[in-house]
Amino acid sequence: MNMKYPTVLAIESSCDETAAAVYNEKVGILSNVLFSQIDQHKPFGGVIPEVASRTHIKKIGPIVNQALEQANKTLDDIDVIAVTHKPGLPGSLLIGLSFAKALAYAKNIPLIGVNHLEGHAYSSMIEHAVPFPHICLTASGGHTALYLVKDFGNYELLGQTTDDAAGEAFDKIAKLINLGYPGGPIIEKLAKEASFQDYFQYPRGKQNNLNFSFSGLKTAVLYDLVRQGAFDMATKTFLKDHDLTLKRQVASSLLVCIADIFINKLARALKEHPEVTAVTFVGGVACNAYIKERIAAFCKKHNMQFFAPSTQYCTDNAAMIAFVGNYKAKQDKFDDLTLDIFD
Ligand code: KG4
Ligand code: ZN
Repeated sequence: MNMKYPTVLAIESSCDETAAAVYNEKVGILSNVLFSQIDQHKPFGGVIPEVASRTHIKKIGPIVNQALEQANKTLDDIDVIAVTHKPGLPGSLLIGLSFAKALAYAKNIPLIGVNHLEGHAYSSMIEHAVPFPHICLTASGGHTALYLVKDFGNYELLGQTTDDAAGEAFDKIAKLINLGYPGGPIIEKLAKEASFQDYFQYPRGKQNNLNFSFSGLKTAVLYDLVRQGAFDMATKTFLKDHDLTLKRQVASSLLVCIADIFINKLARALKEHPEVTAVTFVGGVACNAYIKERIAAFCKKHNMQFFAPSTQYCTDNAAMIAFVGNYKAKQDKFDDLTLDIFD
């Protein structure tokens, strides 16, 4: 067993991605395998927990095998098993956690539980040497939060969404105007076709702190569409399905609005923490090139270093769980087989 440079097998199944990865700090990411369940959930316009659980059950074995094969390893080469144990959909989490525990028990391999959000928070460090302390903006389908990241495993929550997550706002508004699921990438494509102009100037929110709120934005978009005669409240129908120009304008205004909200919050966080010299932007929404460029330009203007992971480490993945598992192993933070999804 090598705990200076352990070879870590990681498993991630907190939502709708079945993922496994193998990592060794000396060599880097040896494999990062993922089965995305988007096609299973698309017909419903969102993630259905029961469908997610059933798909994880089918996929977890093959995905873990594939990760080991691609890394050219067997379970006998694995020093640590890291697994996402919270937060997430209970049924989905239980499948990854039970699978990880079974492997750990059968092969007598130490087990480490990883918080999914800690995985996202450090995901930019898989590829970049980000200095501490830094501010991390995490934006995904389930979470939107700002952290002050002081060291490995040492971080402070500065603010978070009090209702919907940013990705959820993209997904819900996309559903409102019949764009399909997931909404984020489709909105980005349409916004580009409208040259990222701010047509409708949706509200940026008034919260005088580091928390976010996106549910009011969805309502503002809806009311604006009603005012324009584009949405019928009685039947809950979008009446301008043929009007690509309107869809582009909504998408474009929404994207500019959310980028502005992020930049306002970052400016406030940086003002409150003058010791910080770098900013990271992580999570599924960090796939968005427009928002990334806006934040990068803001950071440049304020002499801040800026880092974002490549897209494979933005959306849910097991590489980020392996990365956290590695430093937890080096810090001797192991778990036993009583590890639970509510711990
Ligand atoms: O991190 P992730 O894969 O899953 C969660 O942990 O939630 O994030 C998925 C979210 C979805 O809401 C999706 O619409 C959003 O990330 N997303 C994007 C883009 N690509 C994915 N949002 C905006 N622009 C994108 N290009
Ligand atoms: Zn996530």
